[in-house]
Amino acid sequence: MHIVITGANRGIGRELHDRYTAAGHDVTGTSRQGGEFATLDVTNPDSHAALARELDGRPVDLLICNAGVYLDKHENLADGFPAAMWADTFAANVTGVFLTVQSLLPNLQMDPGAKLAIISSQMASHTRAPGGSYIYRASKAAALNLGRNLAVDLAPLGVSVGIYHPGWVKTDMGGDAAAITVEESAAGLIDRFNELDRDSTGCFKTYDGQDHPY
Ligand SMILES: NC(=O)c1ccc[n+]([C@@H]2O[C@H](COP(=O)([O-])OP(=O)(O)OC[C@H]3O[C@@H](n4cnc5c(N)ncnc54)[C@H](OP(=O)(O)O)[C@@H]3O)[C@@H](O)[C@H]2O)c1
Repeated sequence: MHIVITGANRGIGRELHDRYTAAGHDVTGTSRQGGEFATLDVTNPDSHAALARELDGRPVDLLICNAGVYLDKHENLADGFPAAMWADTFAANVTGVFLTVQSLLPNLQMDPGAKLAIISSQMASHTRAPGGSYIYRASKAAALNLGRNLAVDLAPLGVSVGIYHPGWVKTDMGGDAAAITVEESAAGLIDRFNELDRDSTGCFKTYDGQDHPY
């Protein structure tokens, strides 16, 4: 399989990259710094165009939209959550996902069984809504919404779409107190991506296979 993973330089994306590479897949990991990875800043349309040129003509069997930011962890309702933080978060977590899918759509369409995985969060849920982190929650809810609607539009093209909560994971974002390791998260996510198909397209699942409430 040719697998494209955004934000592959650290955290969950890095673990997915390393596991798929070790399993012998052809992996295009992206990072905004480039280096050993293909260069992609998901907020920058020119960067998407450059990656699309680099991958022109190569089928993508699995696209994992993983890159994301959580900027408002410590904001307070009285005077926090500044407008610029909303813009920066949505540029990465929402527009970034959309532009990634849009720019690589020709590559996904080359494989009639291609899959798109969007790493959202349990914080996308309207049902489970404990308050706080308004910006991150809204951005992940929007990413979930994108995935649900893309599932409909991409079904005739044969592309299956899954939206995932990767667990509360010990990464720079999740912090040391998080519940699971990147190894546990990535192993579960890979199982989920393997089982994704046309019948389950549009699903919102946790890394360990539970249906997540919307
Ligand atoms: N950890 C958790 O508990 C948890 C829970 C639920 C959902 N998630 C989601 O899981 C995904 C991965 O999270 P993580 O815990 O692995 O986070 P992380 O360790 O903070 O890594 C985030 C990754 O996203 C990349 N990224 C951020 N902004 C980018 C941009 N504009 N362009 C390209 N890449 C960008 C980062 O690259 P740089 O190194 O350049 O910053 C990094 O590779 C995210 O979508 C996150 O929201 C995580």
